[in-house]
Amino acid sequence: MGQYTLPDLPYDYGALAPAITGEILELHHGKHHAAYVKGANDTLDRIAEARDQREFGGLVGLEKTYAFNLSGHVLHTIFWDNLSPDGGDRPEGELAAAIDEHFGSFDGFSAQLTSATSTVQGSGWGVLAWEPLGERLIVEQVYDHHGNVGANTAPLLVFDAWEHAYYLQYRNVRPDYVQKLWSLVNWTDVTRRFDIARAGTSILPKT
Ligand SMILES: [Fe+2]
Repeated sequence: MGQYTLPDLPYDYGALAPAITGEILELHHGKHHAAYVKGANDTLDRIAEARDQREFGGLVGLEKTYAFNLSGHVLHTIFWDNLSPDGGDRPEGELAAAIDEHFGSFDGFSAQLTSATSTVQGSGWGVLAWEPLGERLIVEQVYDHHGNVGANTAPLLVFDAWEHAYYLQYRNVRPDYVQKLWSLVNWTDVTRRFDIARAGTSILPKT
């Protein structure tokens, strides 16, 4: 009874080379992302069993495992669409203006997201997100897939900083991998997410 399915990549495994090798992409999508999908589905089933039996002794662990796997699935799904063999350069229009407004300049924003991604301790992500309560763009430094995240924020551009994303190619030099990610950013996709997030009706009153 799977709730979630592994999406196809919008390009071939070798399409992002040389920035990301086909070997890494195939393992990353076909093994790691697939494991999060399976983990989320399996954990939902286990939670349903616990509920049916009214046996909630293991619920704390199950909820944690579900949040981990669901967030891994969500972030990887966004990550694939955020990248493109034809990516790079800079955003235009209202997204560019919002970046200037909330980060001072594109250079300030890119330096912050690069640093957030490069300095995650252990495994995590650097994320550009829309924060609807303050109606602003922010950078988040996410631990694992779900830690250090502001509630109700919407990820727009996500940089995977887990070793499985780069280690076979870049070894321990994560900053070199992060620099290459910028050359792959699909700003059309990021702009689409920005437009949707900004137009959405917040569940919270405006401050
Ligand atoms: Fe990953």
